[in-house]
Amino acid sequence: MAVRALKEGIYWVGAIDWDIREFHGPSYSTHQGTSYNAYLIIDEKVTLVDIVDVHFVDVMIDHIKEIIDPGKIDYIIINASSKLFDDENDMCTVMDEAKKYYANILMPFSSLVVKKIEEIKKMDLKIDMIAPSHGILWRSHPDKILEAYMKWGRGETHRKAIIVYETMWNSTERMARAVIEGLVSEGVDARLYRISVSDINDIIKEVLDAKALLAASSTINNTMIANMAYFMEELMGLKPRNKIGAVFGSYGWGKGAVANIEKKLREAGIQLVKEGLQIKYVPTEEDLKTCYEFGKEIGKMI
Ligand SMILES: Cc1cc2nc3c(=O)[nH]c(=O)nc-3n(C[C@H](O)[C@H](O)[C@H](O)COP(=O)(O)O)c2cc1C
Repeated sequence: MAVRALKEGIYWVGAIDWDIREFHGPSYSTHQGTSYNAYLIIDEKVTLVDIVDVHFVDVMIDHIKEIIDPGKIDYIIINASSKLFDDENDMCTVMDEAKKYYANILMPFSSLVVKKIEEIKKMDLKIDMIAPSHGILWRSHPDKILEAYMKWGRGETHRKAIIVYETMWNSTERMARAVIEGLVSEGVDARLYRISVSDINDIIKEVLDAKALLAASSTINNTMIANMAYFMEELMGLKPRNKIGAVFGSYGWGKGAVANIEKKLREAGIQLVKEGLQIKYVPTEEDLKTCYEFGKEIGKMI
C-alpha cells in the first residue's frame, strides 16, 4: 500500500501483513491479517514512530523514501487491512474486530482504560483522529470507538448468556442444548460454543458483554476435559467484570468436573448463582426437563 498523508506533515508508512493468522503466538487469532502501523512526522525534527515487524522493514523504508531521505530522520520511537481508515471498511466488521481485541487483550486493564478516557475527556480536546499503533485509524468515528471502550471498560452487559462446553460422547451436549432452550424461553440472547470446534478468542469476544457465562464439561479422570481447563485459565487472566455464572455436566461415578470448574469461575470473579447441575451418564427425558428449568431460572436472573 502506498504512503498516506494523514495530516500536514504526518504520514502513514507502515505495512500490511495479509497472511498472519496469529498474534502473540497462538494466544490471539487474526483471521483477517493485521497492519503494522508506522508514522513519519515531519516537523522541526523528523520522527519515525515504528512498530513494523522485522519482515516488513524494507516495505517501510521504501515508503519513507517516497517522502524523505531516511538518513534525515532525527528520532525513532519504537513501540507493533489494506483499508487503513475506519470509514473505508464495513463498520460492523471493524467494531467486531475492535471488540475481539478489547476482550482478549485489554479486558484485564478495564479500570485503567476507563480512567484514561475520562482523563482525556476532561481535557476537552476536539479529537480529529485516533491513530493507534495497531489496526484501523479512526478519522470518521473516533467517538464511536471511545464510547465502545468506555462501555466495555465499565463492564456493561446485555441480556445475553454464553454456554461454553466440552463433551466426549455428547451427554453434556444434550444437557447444554436443553439449557439453552430454557434461557431462550426467557428472551435471553443465548449462544452455545463447543470449545473443540470454536476459536477461543471468538468465544471471549462474546463473553465480554454477556451477563451470564455457563460452563459445562463431563468428568474425565476426576476433573474437567482439558480444553475447558485451558479456557478457564484464559478467563482467570482476563478478570471479566459484572458476570453471573453456573456450571453443569455429565459424570459416571465420582464426579469432579463441575466442582473444579466452579472453583475456577469463582477465582475469575464470576458470581455463581445456582448450584451445579450434575447428571449421571446419558440424560433421560426427565433430566433434560431439569436442564431446561436450570436454563430458564438463570434466564430470569439476567
Ligand atoms: C476416559 C474416561 C474417563 C472418565 N473418568 C471419569 C471419572 O473420573 N469420574 C466420573 O465420574 N466419570 C468419569 N467418566 C465417565 C464420564 O464422565 C461419563 O461417561 C459421562 O456421561 C460422559 O459425558 P459426555 O458424553 O458429555 O462426555 C469417564 C469417562 C471416560 C471415557
